[in-house]
Amino acid sequence: MPASGFPATRMRRNRQADWSRRLVRENVLTAADLIWPLFVIDGENQVDPVPSMPGVARRSIDETVRMVESAAELGIPAVALFPNTDPALRDDAASEAVNPENLVCRTVRAVKQAVPEMGVICDVALDPYTSHGHDGIMRGAEIVNDLTIETLIQQALVQAEAGCDVIAPSDMMDGRIGAIRHALEDSGLTKTMIMSYAAKYASAFYGPFRDAVGSSGTLKGDKRTYQMDPANTDEALREVELDIAEGADMIMVKPGMPYLDIVRRVHESFGVPTFAYQVSGEYAMMMAAAENGWLDKDRVMLESLLAFKRAGASGILTYFAHDVATTLRDTGGVA
Ligand code: PBG
Repeated sequence: MPASGFPATRMRRNRQADWSRRLVRENVLTAADLIWPLFVIDGENQVDPVPSMPGVARRSIDETVRMVESAAELGIPAVALFPNTDPALRDDAASEAVNPENLVCRTVRAVKQAVPEMGVICDVALDPYTSHGHDGIMRGAEIVNDLTIETLIQQALVQAEAGCDVIAPSDMMDGRIGAIRHALEDSGLTKTMIMSYAAKYASAFYGPFRDAVGSSGTLKGDKRTYQMDPANTDEALREVELDIAEGADMIMVKPGMPYLDIVRRVHESFGVPTFAYQVSGEYAMMMAAAENGWLDKDRVMLESLLAFKRAGASGILTYFAHDVATTLRDTGGVA
């Protein structure tokens, strides 16, 4: 190394102390970036752990409300509700999905009454309600698009009428965003937001979720005729473009970590609020390794979520939401 002081640029200078690392930090994760998915079951005082998702449980409405109160105290802006419907109520037509008194609608009302400031997001898809575990209505082996949309519209309306703030169609039928948007407008539900799972892939990372909502045992075949091929990226942009044109307010990419390239492309191409879902399988992988002592849970949790911010996500649906918001509070609010 010459005495002249070469190299002039030493990238390590800014990294040498905590204060300077904080000062030049490009992205931060805060509680306001988080959406917490919650699984709901019938009953009272019920907390039923999901074995493939350590730390996650299905809870009855009263217990769910307690969790939402705690999330609100931590500054988490929104929760996403997923019902585990009684198998006796599941049928080929997904009739329970459109029942205004179904589990998810009752949960929405209880949550909004107890914590009105909390954003409530409901999934629109038929898989928690069908006897075959598919997201749509079947005729033979086919998931029939337009027939399914008729039920999705009714499902969205009962959820919005129950007080749900954000309708999140995760079914991947063609044209459902426009159909739901028109139905909401026609019903005077003009303020209800739509977060479209526009780029949702046919992924193997959803396994533990299907355990949690009780559809894994019943699902026949796979979802490749409606969810996207993991090989594709241009197709994701076409999906997003259509959903924005049909009236989506926010866009979701799913799964998360294996699809950060899609998050980045969607965010850069459209500048629309873009969310990512760190799905059940991603959570299960990290928790399994942490439980074995192979990874430091808190550190991988923070690092994995920061990656979404770096990719351009406005926020992240994550089963870590409560945990990470607690860590952020205890360590000064940002990571
Ligand atoms: C239902 C739905 C799924 C997930 C969210 N909504 C499963 C699926 O499409 O099979 C998965 C979420 C997760 O794995 O955490 N349409």
